[in-house]
Amino acid sequence: MMLCHDILILIQCGREAASKSQPPDARPANRLVNSSGPPKTHVQKTHSLADYATKRFRLAGKAYLDLGDPFFAPIDTLRREAELNGRRFVSFANYDYLGLASHPVVKAAAAVALEKFGIGALGSRLVGGQRSSHRSLETGLAKFLGVEDALTLVSGYLTNVTTISHILGSHDALFIDELSHNSIVSGAKGTSAETIIFRHNDLDHLDFLLREKRANYRNALVVAEGLYSMDGDVADLAGLVELKERHKAWLLIDEAHSLGVLGSEGRGLWEHAGVDPQQIDLIIGTLSKTLCSCGGFVAGKEAVISWLRYTLPGFVYSVGLSPVISAAAETALQLMQQETWRIERLRQNAELFVDLAHDVGLDTGPAIGRGVVPILFSDSHETLAASSHLMEHGYYVPPIIQIGVPKDQPRLRFFISALHTEAEIRGVTELLAKRTTQREAPARSLTEAG
Ligand SMILES: Cc1ncc(COP(=O)(O)O)c(C=O)c1O
Repeated sequence: MMLCHDILILIQCGREAASKSQPPDARPANRLVNSSGPPKTHVQKTHSLADYATKRFRLAGKAYLDLGDPFFAPIDTLRREAELNGRRFVSFANYDYLGLASHPVVKAAAAVALEKFGIGALGSRLVGGQRSSHRSLETGLAKFLGVEDALTLVSGYLTNVTTISHILGSHDALFIDELSHNSIVSGAKGTSAETIIFRHNDLDHLDFLLREKRANYRNALVVAEGLYSMDGDVADLAGLVELKERHKAWLLIDEAHSLGVLGSEGRGLWEHAGVDPQQIDLIIGTLSKTLCSCGGFVAGKEAVISWLRYTLPGFVYSVGLSPVISAAAETALQLMQQETWRIERLRQNAELFVDLAHDVGLDTGPAIGRGVVPILFSDSHETLAASSHLMEHGYYVPPIIQIGVPKDQPRLRFFISALHTEAEIRGVTELLAKRTTQREAPARSLTEAG
């Protein structure tokens, strides 16, 4: 069964229709050129952008917000604890996996960089110049990841969009997992390559699609994620490497949520899977999760990164990373290598969470028990209610409904941190368990009474 997000269905349908009607070579190289002729007369024209936005927002599920908006919480204090409207909460909402976000050494490094370099990079690094911390962060990342070089950009999202759309052209094909992060989907929308979607983590399906379609294209890129950000499961990397070799494709792994999380030293999916990182063509990641700052990176062979350094639009035509950010991220990267107990503690915490959740009958879906663990619910109202129940009892776990996951798979997503205590993990799972039991109680007593 295909579980495509709405947006993925649109891409797939559009692309498959295009590929059926035309050979790949016949399609326009630049899809911004509208080749579909004059606008159709039967289409109802919208005049006001505000009206259009109101309608789209309604379709996106705005009604849920009217029940009490759990989003954009005003948080000024943040560690594993959040302070909302003067009340303290234990937060499972932020991806500070190793608890480095408020580490004094990270803060001090940022303060020193601020003093020395100021806040902004004040230009594209290509023509505006770069600070020493830009390159030292990049060489540090490459070394840690076991590859030759890396390039940093101002956002992880941007890194996926610009890299995918840049390296592929109209004679190429992009194979993406149906549960790909939206930044990968946006990269797919931005490329003139054909996008082909495989079922989540289903390598037989990917193999089938590669066998069917690979021969029609010059280059093929397969994209998968290290740790899936909504489900907490992982791709079979050894299998992906075997497929990409056999079908002469390239492989991009998005390690956004797996850096610092997977593998005993936190090096990511390749360490977790025991695969040589050199076999991955591109590793993409973010500085915003374990490295607790902001920005993205793309890493791989020197030849590839050198090309990107001079041509990647999202790098060349965008400002360089703030030196404050790069200093903080570099320091976090060093700390995670010195304080490896954090990686182990995160693993213990996440496993404890999953074990306790299972003990009380909660559904954690396919999560492997690392940094991200969802608790799945049957409907959105139930999810919203569970989130506000936790909030009432001092736990901040926002609901994930509709935006970000398929409509019928709402969830509470827990980001586990090395800093969470056993009492906090027990506390939150017990609350959820009690809530489930209480909900079931009236039905049971009615049956008993009858
Ligand atoms: C898999 C994946 N890739 C990329 C990104 C984008 O990273 P950033 O938030 O650093 O822009 C995210 C964000 O959560 C993500 O989950």
